[in-house]
Amino acid sequence: MMEIEKLKVLVTGGAGFIGSHIVERLVKKGAEVIVYDNFSTGSIENIKHLEKDIEVIRADILDYDKLLDVCRGVNVISHQAAQLEITKCIDNPIEDLKINAEGSLNVFNAAIKNGVKKVIYASSACVYGQAQYIPQDENHPTNPNWQYGISKLAVEKYADIYNKYYGIPTIGLRYSIVYGPKEWYGRVLTVFLKRAMEGQLPVVWGGDQIRDFIYISDVVSLHSLCIESDIVYNDIFNVSTGIGTSIKQLARLIIEIFDLDGEPIYEDVKEGEGSELLEGRKRLPMELKKMVLDNRKAKKNLGWEPRVRLREGLIKEFEWLKSNKHRWKKMSY
Ligand SMILES: NC(=O)c1ccc[n+]([C@@H]2O[C@H](COP(=O)([O-])OP(=O)(O)OC[C@H]3O[C@@H](n4cnc5c(N)ncnc54)[C@H](O)[C@@H]3O)[C@@H](O)[C@H]2O)c1
Repeated sequence: MMEIEKLKVLVTGGAGFIGSHIVERLVKKGAEVIVYDNFSTGSIENIKHLEKDIEVIRADILDYDKLLDVCRGVNVISHQAAQLEITKCIDNPIEDLKINAEGSLNVFNAAIKNGVKKVIYASSACVYGQAQYIPQDENHPTNPNWQYGISKLAVEKYADIYNKYYGIPTIGLRYSIVYGPKEWYGRVLTVFLKRAMEGQLPVVWGGDQIRDFIYISDVVSLHSLCIESDIVYNDIFNVSTGIGTSIKQLARLIIEIFDLDGEPIYEDVKEGEGSELLEGRKRLPMELKKMVLDNRKAKKNLGWEPRVRLREGLIKEFEWLKSNKHRWKKMSY
């Protein structure tokens, strides 16, 4: 078993939402941590309170020489840096592929050259595409419906090859929808929360779409188990609650928790079209109808158990948002 307090861990994307929570936990557990981030979407605010305990490298994963240099003496890499905006991957699939696939290859190559013992990398539920059944286990077919899912799937396939060829243990984490303090991305849960903070009712498009929301601290716990575990091979885990929540249910829950007055507002927006009520927002094309990931493999193999229920997680995120309103200033809702 790897003891975290004895490790030097490099976290790419460590100034981002998920990465910064990972960094915080690693510091708490006594690891030596290097954050490697170009701050394209990450924020120094996320890691400021840890500054005296960590080293921060402002650099790009596309800069292989820099990565190679920084990875010297590193035992474990947690690779979280990526381009993850669906609208961006549609508008600029080449940029998406470059950051996610080439960037990850750089990370894997730097790991091998420096004798890194393990690489844990962020994948995504997007590798599955439309669900043929739910909950989707790790063997569910992978037919991404967006370019981002393809670049993430490529990362998994590269990891597999690198594991077989060079023997480096790689663990891919297919996150469902991760939520919690410090997230910044405008999507259904954050848009509902932002409106709730201003006393506005959620605007629902359709509403029968089913999603699996996993709270950030549960993701971080699983990540720690992946470092500690004796897994010395290539593996992939869904990181999810296994619980499906429809968008209608989410809207109602938010109305109830935050004591809003009224019912969800239903707006008829077709996939790929713009909203009239939510200025600047567009419904995604080729939307997923259902996404619920089976988490039994992580539970069984790693002894992990997600603990935070949606209601509790939403309240925690809301509390954070109330005292960090500036963080979502640019998000249209
Ligand atoms: N948030 C989710 O619900 C979710 C779901 C599935 C998968 N993921 C994956 O989890 C990982 C973390 O996502 P997040 O939600 O924390 O997003 P985020 O945008 O907050 O974090 C990504 C971080 O990577 C950094 N980064 C981006 N491009 C970089 C580059 N070229 N070089 C160096 N740093 C770069 C950004 O500045 C940011 O700090 C990503 O790999 C993402 O694809 C997230």
